[in-house]
Amino acid sequence: MDAALITASLELVAERCADPAPAVYRRVFDQSPEMEALFVRDRDGGVRGQMLYQVIETLLDFVGGRHFAVNMIRSEMVNHENLGVPPQVFASFFATVRDALREIGAEGWTPAMDTAWDGLLSALDEAVPRAPA
Ligand code: HEM
Repeated sequence: MDAALITASLELVAERCADPAPAVYRRVFDQSPEMEALFVRDRDGGVRGQMLYQVIETLLDFVGGRHFAVNMIRSEMVNHENLGVPPQVFASFFATVRDALREIGAEGWTPAMDTAWDGLLSALDEAVPRAPA
């Protein structure tokens, strides 16, 4: 799992797109349409933006010093289950983020970045096992 490549992929996306949140949530709601209703209070997209920001901060901590990422993901998985987000859907968010960022990165997204994200996603699966279906 190469932290420098993960960071480079995020920098590539930041150069090409001021706000990747719409692209990310479009994919989430395409995959799980029932999740859109849960954001009923989020009139201006601020909560979705804040959530994505915190997820990216958590991923950077996970590939870096791992000071808070695992506990944060575990506690958010429980919070979200109480919100009505099944653990499987919750855990799928990381790969959905990768897919949306890769689309934005387009030809600038290298095979090495893909391998780094594959490593990150499988390490996350190991560190924070999903609750059995
Ligand atoms: C498809 C998966 C997910 C769905 C459908 C989802 C849904 C939601 C919803 C509906 C809210 C707003 C709740 C409210 O109005 O109070 C929220 C907030 C939040 N979510 Fe998620 N979530 C997902 C994945 C994640 C993941 C993977 C993380 C972190 C690892 C996360 C972290 C957060 C945080 C930190 C907030 C609070 C944002 C704020 O400060 O306003 N979410 N989520």
